[in-house]
Amino acid sequence: MNLYEKIPNNVNLSENKRLQRALEKWQPNYIKWWNEAGPAKFETNDIYLRTAISVDSKGWANFDHVKMPDYRWGIFLSPPEQDRTVGFGDHMGDKAWQEVPGEYRNMLRRIIVTQGDTEPASVEQQRKLSETAPSLYDCRNLFQVNVEEGRHLWAMVYLLHGYFGRDGREEAEEMLERRSGDMDKPRILSTFNEPIEDWLSFFMFTTFTDRDGKYQLLALAESGFDPLSRTTRFMLTEEAHHMFVGETGVGRVIQRACEMMKEDPNEDVRAQGGVDLPTIQKYLNFWFSSSVDLFGGEISSNAADYFASGLKGRDKEEKYEDHLALDGTYSMDVINGGKLDTKSVPMRNAMNEILRDAYIADNQKAVDRWNKTVKKQGVDFTFTLPNRRFNRKVGLYSGLHFDLDGNPITDLEFNARRFDWLPSDDDGVYLRRIQQAVFERGKIANWIAPPARGINGQEFDFEYVKA
Ligand SMILES: [Fe+2]
Ligand SMILES: [Fe+2]
Repeated sequence: MNLYEKIPNNVNLSENKRLQRALEKWQPNYIKWWNEAGPAKFETNDIYLRTAISVDSKGWANFDHVKMPDYRWGIFLSPPEQDRTVGFGDHMGDKAWQEVPGEYRNMLRRIIVTQGDTEPASVEQQRKLSETAPSLYDCRNLFQVNVEEGRHLWAMVYLLHGYFGRDGREEAEEMLERRSGDMDKPRILSTFNEPIEDWLSFFMFTTFTDRDGKYQLLALAESGFDPLSRTTRFMLTEEAHHMFVGETGVGRVIQRACEMMKEDPNEDVRAQGGVDLPTIQKYLNFWFSSSVDLFGGEISSNAADYFASGLKGRDKEEKYEDHLALDGTYSMDVINGGKLDTKSVPMRNAMNEILRDAYIADNQKAVDRWNKTVKKQGVDFTFTLPNRRFNRKVGLYSGLHFDLDGNPITDLEFNARRFDWLPSDDDGVYLRRIQQAVFERGKIANWIAPPARGINGQEFDFEYVKA
């Protein structure tokens, strides 16, 4: 591990002068992007952040107060696996590739660019949230997520620079030019152009959208292109914390709402400046459905090609029995003349849906834990994931309307219920109104409960962000 080089890395960067020079040329542009599009204010504050100092499973995380622009963004790959082979698809059993296979160059570059683009996008989306942080603890968590998404961009840019030559370098530049929500140069995927102006959205995003990240990374960790596999395996260790921030964040908003319900004879949470449970459910519906879109079309020849080529597998490929997926079929819910029907789809063409299945099951566990919080408070309310067909903008179900249970409904029916199911502008205005920044040590905003414990064994009353 070369921690104190200009670009910290565990890939012996100093032995590859060409690559080192290229990345050192990109670095100031990255810092410029961070200062323009990263967290507003707080550039000079010392933040209690974890930084990777090794890549082994124990103790890679080092905690210290650092200024964000001095964060040691770097290139960290999980250690190589001896004699690794391609684990699925047409090249199953071949030696894993250490260089880009020529025939798959464009496909691989598209996969890396699409993944890479999401990383800076989320930092841009969350840029203004620090101004309304409910506590120093939450402010620190936001910044931790932000700096690690920045590092994830480094991870993908390393692959582009290291393995794709000139067009890779051009793609790396463009990563810093697109902006979330920009009319002319938006980010590639639409979820990453949605504004995040309130903390409930941030917590939902880190629960649902970062979990999409987890599943995409799991699928890429199986890649026959070994540098991609090793890069994404290390990214996954960082991703887990983002989902922790999201899930416990939503849980604490729920906890506070339940407390307020019990304090008021009318159970009126908003009257006390909290976020009521039905509003939380609406934000859940929105961010879940938007994140479900990120897996792409249900029946996809691209997904089939990614799998066949050995570039992108399934989550934990070893848990599946058939790694060729040549003969099996997947029974897909389709719409036929306005009604639900099923259709047999060749397994390889259903790879997006298979990954989506695993993703949805994982989300259900988070929702179950939220419901436990509600129950513990003695409150009668159950959170549910909407059906995967609800509110879709991508794939078979886009352009149609479904209720929360996935039944087809008319435009009229949908529009009549829309704001029972999805956040309205007024909901957003309300959330932004109640979120006043609390930057006093050990204090927290009224609408959210304090965490059960602090970060890295510290108390909640700790100076996570130094003034
Ligand atoms: Fe990420
Ligand atoms: Fe993340």
